[in-house]
Amino acid sequence: MRAVGTARPRVEGPLKVTGAARYAADERRPGMVWGWIVAAAISKGHIAEIDAKETLGMPGVLGVLDHNNAPRLNPDAGNYFGPDGSLQYLQSDAIPYAGRPIALVVAETMEQARAAAAALKVTYHEQPHDTTFSVDHPAKRPASQAFGPEADTGDLEAELAASAVVVDEVYRTPEESHSAMEPHAATAWWEDGDIYAIDSNQGPFSVSQVVSSLFQIDRERVHIRAEHVGGGFGAKTGCGPQLVFAIMASLTFDRPVRVVLTREQVFLSTSARPSTQQRMRIGADADGHLRALYHDAVYSVSPLAEYIEWCIDQSHVQYASSAIRTHLSVVPLDLLPPETMRGPGATPGSFALESAMDEVAERLGMDPVEFRLRNQPDANPVTGHPFSSRRSVECLREGARRFGWGGRDHRPRMRREESLLVGSGVATASFSAGTFPSSATITAEADGTFTVGIGATDIGTGARTALIALAADALGVGVDLIRIKMADSDLGMAWGAGGSRGTTSWSFAILEAARRLREKLADPARPVSATVDTTTLINYQPLRERQTFSAVFAEVTVDPATGEVRVRRLLGMFAVGRVVNPLLARSQLSGAMIMGLSMALHEENVRDPRSARDVNSDFAGYHIAAHADVPDVEADFVPDYDPEDPVGINGLGEIGTAATAAAIANAVWHATGKRHRTLPIRLDRVLEPPSRVA
Ligand code: MOS
Repeated sequence: MRAVGTARPRVEGPLKVTGAARYAADERRPGMVWGWIVAAAISKGHIAEIDAKETLGMPGVLGVLDHNNAPRLNPDAGNYFGPDGSLQYLQSDAIPYAGRPIALVVAETMEQARAAAAALKVTYHEQPHDTTFSVDHPAKRPASQAFGPEADTGDLEAELAASAVVVDEVYRTPEESHSAMEPHAATAWWEDGDIYAIDSNQGPFSVSQVVSSLFQIDRERVHIRAEHVGGGFGAKTGCGPQLVFAIMASLTFDRPVRVVLTREQVFLSTSARPSTQQRMRIGADADGHLRALYHDAVYSVSPLAEYIEWCIDQSHVQYASSAIRTHLSVVPLDLLPPETMRGPGATPGSFALESAMDEVAERLGMDPVEFRLRNQPDANPVTGHPFSSRRSVECLREGARRFGWGGRDHRPRMRREESLLVGSGVATASFSAGTFPSSATITAEADGTFTVGIGATDIGTGARTALIALAADALGVGVDLIRIKMADSDLGMAWGAGGSRGTTSWSFAILEAARRLREKLADPARPVSATVDTTTLINYQPLRERQTFSAVFAEVTVDPATGEVRVRRLLGMFAVGRVVNPLLARSQLSGAMIMGLSMALHEENVRDPRSARDVNSDFAGYHIAAHADVPDVEADFVPDYDPEDPVGINGLGEIGTAATAAAIANAVWHATGKRHRTLPIRLDRVLEPPSRVA
């Protein structure tokens, strides 16, 4: 009877496969015109002149917006960290990074706008750009500790000195792009002083707050919808350039305006995961107990806005150690401002920690699964707070059993199949979970159905289907009686689809609304709608550590003659609380593991050092895993229930990406005997000289 826990296909599936689902670039408004973004061709400097003479004479052109004539924006508008200078589009002639949008050409058709944009003549005063990431950069500074402090427990140096085995290595991950299939797009219009927009984003309510602040207009007069979104992975958590430009142009030309980014503009002008460099020093006793864990992570940021890539949380949560010390620093560079990308912090952080843990196991001559099992903490090793639920041991044991780990020869380069080297690897990860404020309204309709209204977004995850199941159970009715309205800022305050906190945050609001509605239904004279805002209901200082856990196992083959690594099998075991919909949860997690595979072997933004411009800003040059790269991927769950949540659930959007790259890198070492501490594990890094291949 209960809907939660039952596998069900996504409810909007038929709409998507028949093309009936409307995305941001599908919205047609009467009188709509097109805006085409022009992006800076230099990496640092100022605009000398924008000569629009030819452009303005071209067919269909309504005008050009640039820093001389664009509507003024509120300079204090920002995000969680305060004012965000990256939102200040067209407010000055300064160019902070290559790809910065500097003008919008508006025309009657998309083709006219594109052609006219190509004719725009921009000249620059170029300045030297500072774009090379280095941990020795003089501008390096401590990162914001808004997500929590660095760790310093025990006497690190004394524990390192007393260790039987010490690994001291540096791990590097490159700048990466989110690569959502749907490019950023918005259609915006003004009506009686209100702003309306269909936008591709992960949280229409929070985007409406940013728009309200930027354009100095009441929040209630900003109406943002994002009903169907073709992926975000963090790149659409904030207010994107497409929306700011569409609103500016609509204000200026008094027409509905659509702005769609090209694939290249998505790469150059939206956001990226920052480069990281992480030094790990791990010391252990001969029996495999950790004495010292040191994690020093540095990543790149933009001077325009604060940003946290919280790599060190992995080392705060995963293992017991007599001493733990972490540092988190940033290097401001003239680069595209970073933004959370799936599993922010945990994904690069687990690559460093779990590669280094594998190296310690190697030096100890110990099974890497056994080594991890030996160092499980009873409570958070830094804060001492108990875990609300911690099933990491179950993930490791069940994963090892299903993968056939037992009997593995732990020495490297022992397995061959004809010319191929074969190896297997394991890695684990954790990802912080929790509940953020949201609101929801449930209405009991005259026909016996219930309408749930919530400003949640379904970015392709199956959120809509999950929330219907949660509402059905909360109301004690079948899923066929639930209708849902979502992804509209008019539906009230709601957390976005991010931080692996969508389902937990939204379901709490729905549960509370259902509870109040049931009370009201008991009295037929009262109204039949209930609205709840969970802001005051959430305990903001939980004394329990709420995390999800994983263990990922990988088997690879390596062709030493070509350097080609193929992943043959990937198995991920996950402890994510109670699972709302196993079908869609598996789909999310296997997708996330594929993203981790892609990180391990393919993904990196490559910049020309002379221009600092991305040279691979398309899917021909920026490689993401395609079907041929994706092997037998299995994601499954260990039984779990998080008592911190009213229905026992936790988030699972991001945990699948973390751990996967380290599992693959560890498998490549097992196959070849060579450690890959720099991602991606490209052919040229794996290729062996002919003498070694033979
Ligand atoms: Mo995410 S990286 O919280 O969309």
